[in-house]
Amino acid sequence: MDSEGVPTGLDWPADDLGRVPYQVFTDAALYQREQERIFRGPLWHYVGLEAEVPRQGDYKTTHIGEVPVILSRGKAGQLHVLVNRCAHRGSIVLREGSGNSCRFQCVYHRWEYEPDGTLAVVPFQNGLGGAGGYDACFSKAEHGLKRLRVETFNGLVFATFSEQTPPLPEYLGPIVGPRMARVFDGRELVVLGQLRHTVKANWKHYLENVFDAYHAGLLHGFASTFNIFNPAQRAESISDRHGVGMAMTWVPEGAEPPRVEAATPPRGQALQAPELVHALPERDEEIRALLLIVSPTFIGQRMGNCLSTRQVIPRGVDSFEQVWTLFGYADDSPELRESRLIHGNMTGPAGYVHLEDFDALENTHKGIQGARGESAFLQLGGTSCEAGKPQPTMADEGQVRLFWHVWREWMGV
Ligand code: FES
Ligand SMILES: [Fe+2]
Repeated sequence: MDSEGVPTGLDWPADDLGRVPYQVFTDAALYQREQERIFRGPLWHYVGLEAEVPRQGDYKTTHIGEVPVILSRGKAGQLHVLVNRCAHRGSIVLREGSGNSCRFQCVYHRWEYEPDGTLAVVPFQNGLGGAGGYDACFSKAEHGLKRLRVETFNGLVFATFSEQTPPLPEYLGPIVGPRMARVFDGRELVVLGQLRHTVKANWKHYLENVFDAYHAGLLHGFASTFNIFNPAQRAESISDRHGVGMAMTWVPEGAEPPRVEAATPPRGQALQAPELVHALPERDEEIRALLLIVSPTFIGQRMGNCLSTRQVIPRGVDSFEQVWTLFGYADDSPELRESRLIHGNMTGPAGYVHLEDFDALENTHKGIQGARGESAFLQLGGTSCEAGKPQPTMADEGQVRLFWHVWREWMGV
């Protein structure tokens, strides 16, 4: 370990993105550095949808990196993100879950907080029978829950620990922001369900997976068979240079939209429930599948009529938690709402499309154990990466290289 906390064994030339040392997925010291520089650093992190806490006093618990946090709605209707750590002796204040409460009470010694984190009640503040209690200078105002900066983007809630993080619109920038607005367009969102599961792999295997569009046509047999995605499809994949990345697949303006119902599955294969892949028209009809990424904690997805967010929560160097929130728009027709739920079967840990991802990630993480001094080969489409330009083809690992370029900037390695 050097004086900056960088593991001295990390042998990775500064200009080499065509190989990625497997050590970055397994090194406990690098994991701790990620917590400090990325998850508690100057980045915006996704914590949930506004629609998950619609009323005053609503709350949900989640994490940013390893730090437990609460997303809550205060008395005046404003959103708060608070560290879920009692200001007394550090207990979790709200256990895992969601609910509504006018006060958040820590069960240990019953300190109570307002939904904005202000400390409201301290048992025995003035002692008992005239003896004990806190010093006269004790002020509840100085002992609230730690508040994070919070900003929203059309129903998505982001938080950051840092005062240095640029305002969210500037952070998302001209590439990511307008594309995010194709799904998060200001319409009221409604939550349709949530899935959460733990994957026994380092969280960065998953970021690689979402920036790597071409695996989808090879790994996901269901998606390629029924023409949800194939690498030759007209598509765009583009990232900006600040690590706020995105990969998306769509049909560019003026092009003929692919029609899923016209797909010709191999002889003898047909779905008994074609509604599983038959998408009803949306406003923006040319998009078949769309992935939006605000690295490293947010992925937004439209697949057919299924809309979801995916939140990435690291749980140690060998594990991460994935939270899927399926949603629709408040003005959806009943038919469209039904189709969103049906298409939800393609997604999530047991979905017809995503089932394979988590198996592949766990298999990769198992495969690299003990690989001292070895590296992944990441040279499909070259060894460089270019921000702000669409990738020339889906069969290219340029977006993954860009992720690593930005990760190295965040980490200072
Ligand atoms: S640790 Fe929360 S009240 Fe004591
Ligand atoms: Fe995948």
